[in-house]
Amino acid sequence: MIDLHDKVRQVLITGASRGIGLQVALSLLHAGCRVFYVARSPSGRAHDNFHHIPADLASGVDSGVEICALLEERGVFPDTLILCAGAITEALIPKQDAHSIMNQLNVNFTAHAELVRQLIPHMMRHRFGRIVGVSSTAARQAAPGQSLYAASKAGLEAFLRCCAMEFARKGITCNSVAPGYVATEFSARHEAGKDLTRVVPVGRTGNVEEAADAVLFFLGKHSDYVTGTTLTVDGGLSLAVK
Ligand SMILES: NC(=O)c1ccc[n+]([C@@H]2O[C@H](COP(=O)([O-])OP(=O)(O)OC[C@H]3O[C@@H](n4cnc5c(N)ncnc54)[C@H](OP(=O)(O)O)[C@@H]3O)[C@@H](O)[C@H]2O)c1
Repeated sequence: MIDLHDKVRQVLITGASRGIGLQVALSLLHAGCRVFYVARSPSGRAHDNFHHIPADLASGVDSGVEICALLEERGVFPDTLILCAGAITEALIPKQDAHSIMNQLNVNFTAHAELVRQLIPHMMRHRFGRIVGVSSTAARQAAPGQSLYAASKAGLEAFLRCCAMEFARKGITCNSVAPGYVATEFSARHEAGKDLTRVVPVGRTGNVEEAADAVLFFLGKHSDYVTGTTLTVDGGLSLAVK
């Protein structure tokens, strides 16, 4: 378990109803944080400090506006923002339609950019903030069928690098984690039938704890000087020649 920064207390996380996001949320709850999570459906986990904000990030900017209005109504101003929700439609470019294009861009990038835009003024006033995006090795490694997913994740990483520059003097760090294959419903849906033990150099898929620990690293006591970077957690996958 990572030693969290003392100022990490109130966290907004997208995509924490299951998978990597849920694991990050459980670790933060265990550390005593108050956690608000965005997902279309609830996690099924009951905890006094774990609050569901039902929203569909496919609405892009509108969903960001709606979520922040709800937080403000409740007097909640997060010091930490984790952008973990993700959507993928695996299909070659001619088979992507308007809905799949907008869905991937909105969930992976646009809604998240709006959340950052709305929440950063509070972080600036308090001269403290931690923002972590959950990207993917797909942002840098080309694969047929993943064009929109890859572009939206690369966009998220680039956006957070620029944020890191803009807010470095305000005590706010912005970083990304790029997982390879992590055993969740997401990978079960999209990697079914592939023998991942052969393609990952360490010989296995990652687990949610390993991906969550990488996110938590950026919220730790010893990472104040780390900003604008991406931590790859892929068992060496991006080193391997396909
Ligand atoms: N697992 C992997 O191998 C892997 C690899 C690389 C990157 N990643 C990235 O890691 C992140 C987490 O993935 P995971 O494997 O933990 O996936 P997961 O188990 O499928 O969880 C995805 C989360 O995102 C939420 N979500 C999806 N669409 C949403 C929408 N339209 N509005 C609001 N919330 C939405 C889901 O909640 P609801 O369905 O309830 O809305 C769920 O909480 C994603 O960004 C993914 O791209 C995963």
